[in-house]
Amino acid sequence: MSTEQEWDIVSGIGITALAVAVGRAIETVRPDALAKDPYAARFLEEARPPAPLPATVAEAMAREGEEDWSAMTGYLAVRTRAFDDFFQRAVDAGVTQIVLLASGLDTRPFRLPWPENTVAYEIDQPQVLDFKMRVLRKYGATTVCDHRPVPVDLRHDWAAALGEAGFDRSRPTAWLAEGLLPYLPPKAEDDLFQEIHRLSAPGSRLAVEYISDVQEVLDAYAVGDHARHMDADIGSMLHTDRRPAPGVRLAALGWETRDVPAVEAAEGYGRPLDPASSMTGAAFAFAHRP
Ligand SMILES: C[S@@+](CC[C@H](N)C(=O)[O-])C[C@H]1O[C@@H](n2cnc3c(N)ncnc32)[C@H](O)[C@@H]1O
Repeated sequence: MSTEQEWDIVSGIGITALAVAVGRAIETVRPDALAKDPYAARFLEEARPPAPLPATVAEAMAREGEEDWSAMTGYLAVRTRAFDDFFQRAVDAGVTQIVLLASGLDTRPFRLPWPENTVAYEIDQPQVLDFKMRVLRKYGATTVCDHRPVPVDLRHDWAAALGEAGFDRSRPTAWLAEGLLPYLPPKAEDDLFQEIHRLSAPGSRLAVEYISDVQEVLDAYAVGDHARHMDADIGSMLHTDRRPAPGVRLAALGWETRDVPAVEAAEGYGRPLDPASSMTGAAFAFAHRP
């Protein structure tokens, strides 16, 4: 992104959050769902995205038969479940502070079973978070955790905003960067990892989705077609420069890291990725700060 404008939910980068919600809405009604998000369909209906994005789950389900949609929603289901399981492991290890970076329409603070003393921060653009909270309030979403939206641009001083919202550096944190890195310019990504490290007490954990060759994904049929579905120029939003893998960066900072290729995660969940999916090259990095 070269521009500094804020994005609402049906235009610019905000629509990418809605597209992920389409995937979660479809997954939610599958009999073998890897994750269920009862709010995903509500976001669609409230946003009434411009055609050709589906405006209802029924419409989305009809699209599911289209090869590019089913490949993408299959990947999103695996990604969602892999990071749900990451948070479960963090909770089991006693971590009670979580930060969702570029949370979009992720509703984990509302749909996962957090211990009552959990504090959940989520960072995204103000208009994306405003839309999400309006819909969640309308549908009576509740959470046992202390939920704190932090509306700030991750290219700016987000750490200061997180601190103002009450983030406690002395507490181990579980961080998530899902569907984020390719949207950040190189310096913002460098700063992101440095800041996460600076703010992470021993015992903190981080999960990151990454794609080693973003250009390859952009060139692939699925994303190209999704871009047409969203009536948005995804290519202009994504950065294609090559960067160090998150695991390499974090290992250099003293973290223990483990990479799980998306293909392997999908097989582990019994839902192999469609070989035609443009996301077969994606991976999930899981890191722990001793
Ligand atoms: C593909 S969506 C993923 C959302 C969510 N993590 C999920 O998986 O459902 C990308 C999100 O990144 C957010 N985003 C991209 N660049 C950002 C930035 N510089 N600052 C804050 N949010 C950003 C967008 O607003 C959008 O919600």
